[in-house]
Amino acid sequence: VWAQLPQGPPDAILGITEAFKKDKHPKKINLGVGAYRDDKGKPYVLPSVVEAEQRVVQQYLDKEYAGITGVPDFTKAAALLAYGPDSAPLKEGRIAITQSISGTGALRIGGAFLQRFYPGAKAIYIPTPSWANHKAVFSDSGLEIKQYRYYNKDTIGLDFDGMVADIKNMPKGSIILLHACAHNPTGVDPTEDQWRAISDAVKEGEHYPFFDMAYQGFASGDTDKDAFAVRHFLAEGHLPCLAQSFAKNMGLYGERVGAFSIVTASAEEKVRVDSQIKIIVRPLYSNPPVHGARIASTILNDPALNKQWLGEVKGMAERIITMRALLKENLEKLGSKQKWDHITDQIGMFAYTGLTAAEMTKLAEEHSVYATKDGRISVAGITSENVGRLAESIYKIKG
Ligand code: LMR
Repeated sequence: VWAQLPQGPPDAILGITEAFKKDKHPKKINLGVGAYRDDKGKPYVLPSVVEAEQRVVQQYLDKEYAGITGVPDFTKAAALLAYGPDSAPLKEGRIAITQSISGTGALRIGGAFLQRFYPGAKAIYIPTPSWANHKAVFSDSGLEIKQYRYYNKDTIGLDFDGMVADIKNMPKGSIILLHACAHNPTGVDPTEDQWRAISDAVKEGEHYPFFDMAYQGFASGDTDKDAFAVRHFLAEGHLPCLAQSFAKNMGLYGERVGAFSIVTASAEEKVRVDSQIKIIVRPLYSNPPVHGARIASTILNDPALNKQWLGEVKGMAERIITMRALLKENLEKLGSKQKWDHITDQIGMFAYTGLTAAEMTKLAEEHSVYATKDGRISVAGITSENVGRLAESIYKIKG
């Protein structure tokens, strides 16, 4: 049956982990997938997560199915975390929300919902570049992929003018995907003033904003600050939709905890939107897994544990900032002729090094340093111990 089936290429991000595992180098470094590591290079289970999980286990809860939209205590708290306690749509009960299979699942539900119901063109504009999986998620949802300018490789910063010009040139009522914070892969975010101008341009075009917030807390170390764009758009009267992930900020990667929400115009509209979300989710995976959502819910709903967790998020963000500084310092100490300011200017989990695909291949083949071909490195995988070898490897290639 499958005699003619072509071999597919490895995944641009997860395929890196496969290549890394095969490498026998004792000091190999994996900076591919965006997964936080402690300073010993080990996966980090947050102490708040350990505590919450123990509480969940000790309750001997049943393993019944959750409702189609998941664990209500979790989704309520997730919405509060994103939209904030002062959010009018939240207070007025006009945000439809469902638990999702982490951020990817949230995007996929959103894609399916827009493909089925969005009254305008079934196309979505994503930034150039964007997370490597965005195209596949949205095209598998039946949306056409279009792009807008985002990153300026000459300044290694935001192409703000290009971005706003492209937003203004989109057909009226276009769907636009925005990374809420800690842009993946570039680590380049708009400033608050730039977000205000982006909101104006989106409003002027009557476009539909779709926020992807996979890294709330990772950009600034502060979950409220990182929600600025989402909250500003709401304050400006936009009715966006939002994909949330708890993979990074709670380290719940394999538990697949996320949420997808749609801000609607009224509580009555919300009920209808909810009903259609359920109709989309049911044939996809029926209902979501409960364990991770219970952990997240325990953290979000217990004031003391919540406070502890926010401190841990800050700690992760700070370790990443320290590693950025160390990498830059090491490259400069080696006498590198390149400018590396962008490593410390960029934020979030990733640094967009500016290395070419060929240079990234060399980095893997000659130095056993693995990261994606677009030049992105996960700074969360850098440690005090491997930073020296990493800098040397980059220096040998780039000078
Ligand atoms: C990444 O960009 O590395 C993460 O979002 C993990 C993934 O699923 O790609």
